[in-house]
Amino acid sequence: MLETRNLTIRFGGHVAVDHVSCAFAPGTLTSIVGPNGAGKTTYFNLISGQLPAAEGTVTLAGEDITHLPAPLRTRRGLGRAFQLTQLFPNLSVHENVRLAIQARQAGRGHGALDMWRVWLDHKDWIDEASQILSQVRLADRAQAVASSLPHGDQRKLEVALLIALDPKVFMFDEPTAGMSVDEVPVVLDLIRQLKSRKDVVILLVEHKMDVVRELSDRIIVLNNGQLVADGEPATVIASPVVQQAYLGMAAEEET
Ligand SMILES: Nc1ncnc2c1ncn2[C@@H]1O[C@H](COP(=O)(O)OP(=O)(O)O)[C@@H](O)[C@H]1O
Ligand SMILES: [Mg+2]
Repeated sequence: MLETRNLTIRFGGHVAVDHVSCAFAPGTLTSIVGPNGAGKTTYFNLISGQLPAAEGTVTLAGEDITHLPAPLRTRRGLGRAFQLTQLFPNLSVHENVRLAIQARQAGRGHGALDMWRVWLDHKDWIDEASQILSQVRLADRAQAVASSLPHGDQRKLEVALLIALDPKVFMFDEPTAGMSVDEVPVVLDLIRQLKSRKDVVILLVEHKMDVVRELSDRIIVLNNGQLVADGEPATVIASPVVQQAYLGMAAEEET
């Protein structure tokens, strides 16, 4: 479904992502772990098109998308959790989700000039938006202005928008960062639900190793931009490179 080959980017002299070759199959959740600065977010940026590759290719469902701009990659099914800046901050939570559903339909070439169709769709969009908001436990905040949501709810809204886009590839970059302990399970539960669908690729960057261990079918490890380990969770977590990286991280956090 998704494959990177020799994917590379440099910032000045620093090779942030260094010839990373990896293929991701539908129905698989792959966690990408590694110390801070390893290149995890940059790897996502290269896949989603936020950054241009210096070398290498990105292939989605057999199509080389290396040179496509980010919005066209989104249309082809690459779903990256939205940044808050990409929301419509003055619209309601429900309206934001509806717009994402509408964007998805437009991307699929829905007949926008057929007014009867649009009216029918409109009703479907409202229902679908409500359903997605229930799924992410935001139904009670549907009419709130997006920018007024507390941080944890904004993260849930990001997930709601991603679900509304219905991508083939879901990319989550630290989806639980900054969430309170009682909110974390909601997001993890959503990811678990997505996993059961079997037709989507899920990529997850997450620091909490217990979460990674529980959710992953596979773990890849980036270190200094290089893919240094790839395999089953138990094996990879036990590997010296991960033990070292995470001990290193723990030490870093203490300082
Ligand atoms: N836009 C950028 N310009 C310059 N350097 C960057 C940029 N984005 C990331 N980097 C550098 O690339 C490396 C990888 O960063 P990042 O992908 O954010 O790491 P991770 O997500 O694994 O913590 C770091 O050294 C970071 O400072
Ligand atoms: Mg990062």
